[in-house]
Amino acid sequence: MVKLRFSGVFVLFLVLNNAAIPGRGQNDGGSIPGLIEASRALVPAMFIFGDSLIDNGNNNNIPSFAKANYFPYGIDFNGGPTGRFSNGYTMVDEIAELLGLPLIPPFSEASGDQVRYGVNYASAAAGILDETGRNFVGRIPFNQQIRNFESTLDQITNSLGAPDVAQALSRCIFFVGMGSNDYLNNYLMPNYNTKNQYNAQQFADLLAGQYTQQLTRLYNLGARKFVIAGIGLMGCIPSILAQSAAGLCSEQVNQLIAPFNANSKAMINNLTANLPGARFAYIDIHNMFQDLLTNHESYGFNVVNRGCCGIGRNRGQITCLPFQVPCPERDQYIFWDAFHPTEAVNILFGKNAFSGGLNFVYPINIERLALL
Ligand SMILES: *[C@@H]1O[C@H](CO)[C@@H](O)[C@H](O)[C@H]1NC(C)=O
Repeated sequence: MVKLRFSGVFVLFLVLNNAAIPGRGQNDGGSIPGLIEASRALVPAMFIFGDSLIDNGNNNNIPSFAKANYFPYGIDFNGGPTGRFSNGYTMVDEIAELLGLPLIPPFSEASGDQVRYGVNYASAAAGILDETGRNFVGRIPFNQQIRNFESTLDQITNSLGAPDVAQALSRCIFFVGMGSNDYLNNYLMPNYNTKNQYNAQQFADLLAGQYTQQLTRLYNLGARKFVIAGIGLMGCIPSILAQSAAGLCSEQVNQLIAPFNANSKAMINNLTANLPGARFAYIDIHNMFQDLLTNHESYGFNVVNRGCCGIGRNRGQITCLPFQVPCPERDQYIFWDAFHPTEAVNILFGKNAFSGGLNFVYPINIERLALL
């Protein structure tokens, strides 16, 4: 605390300092860096952390085998390939749109004014664990994504001042979708020793411990409104289907990830109880996928068990290669390539997460979280 006899001087200084900043009077104190909020936007900004399901170009310029900045990726995206592992939108693109925000730029391309509606730090092949995804060489693990957020924060704080930044951040959405690669590109990889060290429950507990620390770090940096995406039915993606002669979903893989999703729900309950002012929305991708596979015809999807772009059995043995010709009726496919859903599914899931009921998003949906 400042000693009492100095406090009068302090207040005067702050008032003068405030008055000297042009435009401060029109600012509601809530928007990120001196910028006008998008008209109709429900929140000032969205900060995004994750893997290839939501990467929008962060791997383009790093030495990595996990890249998608080539045709036919982006074939349905305005402007073509960007690094998104989709024919068009990812789920967070749809959520940004529903929040009334513009598309959020990748960290690798966002500077100055471009960070005003948020930044996307997601990186293909990244995991909760730093060692996940090393077969792809370059990738930005969740821990490094958080450090990158800290550097954005330094920029913003320099222009806005710490109290205003804290106030603005508390109203922003922090979207985190991690974990798939800790299974696909770690636990299930023959050249990792992980499965010999941990059974399914032990590994899920290890991940939940790390994940809890990482989300707590974001909380300590000012995050309050979290959206956490679970893992889908990994045993049913074309890459896994292709590994069984019968082409059926792998129950073994679906069982393996079940404790991760169970832990994630428990984790958000724990964090809600332990971090004052923090609120969470958990996107149940598993339930959305189950619902989609069961009711695919009513959603307009006719092809559920092979990629739209890929090679071999289920078009899942080799994922979509540069300049490969994809299927023409992309809106009827659940899977775009060996690992990732089509834009049509991303949009459906984004809508479910935004305004869906408790079976899809728990304990509140993104719209309600945004309006809190
Ligand atoms: C949640 O908290 C309970 C009680 O402290 C603890 O036993 C459990 O391991 C926690 N679960 C997760 C996933 O954090």
